[in-house]
Amino acid sequence: MLNSLERMRRPALRTEVPGPKAQRIIAAEDPVISPSYTRDVPLVVQRGQGLWLEDVDGNEFLDFTAGIAVCAAGHCHPHVVAAIKKQSSELLHMCGADYRYPVMSELAQALARIAPGATPKRVFFANSGAESIEAAIKLARFHTKRPHIIAFWGAFHGRTMGALSLTGSKVRQREGFGPMLGEVSHVPYPSASTPTDNVDPIRWIEENLFKRTLPADRVAAIVVEPIQGEGGYIVPPEDFHQRLRSLCDRHGILLVMDEIQSGMGRTGRMFAIEHWDVEPDIVCLAKGIASGMPLGAIVAKRDVMDWPPGAHASTFGGNPVACAAALATIELLEADLVEHAREMGEELRRSLDGLALRRSLIREVRGKGLMLALDLFGDPETGRNAAEVRDQLVRRAFERGLVILGCGESAIRFCPPLTVSRDEITVAMAILEDAMIEVEKGE
Ligand SMILES: Cc1ncc(COP(=O)(O)O)c(C=O)c1O
Repeated sequence: MLNSLERMRRPALRTEVPGPKAQRIIAAEDPVISPSYTRDVPLVVQRGQGLWLEDVDGNEFLDFTAGIAVCAAGHCHPHVVAAIKKQSSELLHMCGADYRYPVMSELAQALARIAPGATPKRVFFANSGAESIEAAIKLARFHTKRPHIIAFWGAFHGRTMGALSLTGSKVRQREGFGPMLGEVSHVPYPSASTPTDNVDPIRWIEENLFKRTLPADRVAAIVVEPIQGEGGYIVPPEDFHQRLRSLCDRHGILLVMDEIQSGMGRTGRMFAIEHWDVEPDIVCLAKGIASGMPLGAIVAKRDVMDWPPGAHASTFGGNPVACAAALATIELLEADLVEHAREMGEELRRSLDGLALRRSLIREVRGKGLMLALDLFGDPETGRNAAEVRDQLVRRAFERGLVILGCGESAIRFCPPLTVSRDEITVAMAILEDAMIEVEKGE
């Protein structure tokens, strides 16, 4: 299965999707699984290799989601799998909060070395993106002795109570779960592609928040995504991050960069914030860091991470097997994967721009590197709004063997494994265009 040399071909579909085995699994699972999961398409995966997935019925799919920006080195990259196998035969767990082991120490050193900016760093390990955000909130409050956090509308930082309190993406994610963490303010996030619609968030903070409701010296941190992820792959105006850095410096506020989706090479730089030459005080990581193993981390300036023993920890954070997978991932990223992501990002961008010239449903192409999105129009003729058109396109692409995912109100995101090849991009774009033609016809 999944012959990695045979790329210029479409995924082979042996049954209608979902096939009979997938249908049986879905029917058995539905009564027992949490209904909070979204599952836009009925994909039941058996195995994965590179960008290729095989479902339980033997159908092939090209994965342009990387399990939501996680499998940076592709599904089951041999170098990552070998590191996991080796580590899992030596040590599965020992609790890094209480004891030391070499692989955690090596990963901390690697992350401290590659994190953006020259200031010496320290690393704290967690298990997920949301946990990294929790750690950042706690560290920012602890270090500054201030309570308040500023976050952005459209932001997604996770779903644990602290992270959720910063998330400003969809009401569904917060509804019924309040009260949220106190002392959080949301402000508008600006977009480079719609500059005329923007409220200038830096002026908004200084002219409205700091003058009318919130003393600046109550604010511990501003938490921001360098490019908004779930919010729609929104790239901010060129000077935004530097102005945010200056604002933080003026008021003694920490700048916390959520690189959970955009980091680890995805945008063609190791960290997206490097596109703007800004050094954050705390960087939050997860997703792509270990190519599929659960791991999160925060990397903070050394003098910022000043909490004492016992202040914060997690039993599983920095698990040895996850750390080994992360070290293998970083080796691949540094060898050539970041550069490859940059090149393939340009290729994918060219293809999407070409598609936008041919297809009337596309409103905009945006993003950086392999973090790209297509924003769609609604279809007045059939009365479908843009979100409905998007959802239909995701479904039609899936039925042809291409797995893609929505983001924002009416966009489709492309966040494939960074190992994606030119041929795989060509095949994915051909499937996407066919699906789009069908959706344009209202089918
Ligand atoms: C930017 C960003 N931050 C935080 C998170 C939360 O990560 P997790 O789902 O691992 O808790 C996500 C997940 O999509 C994300 O995209």
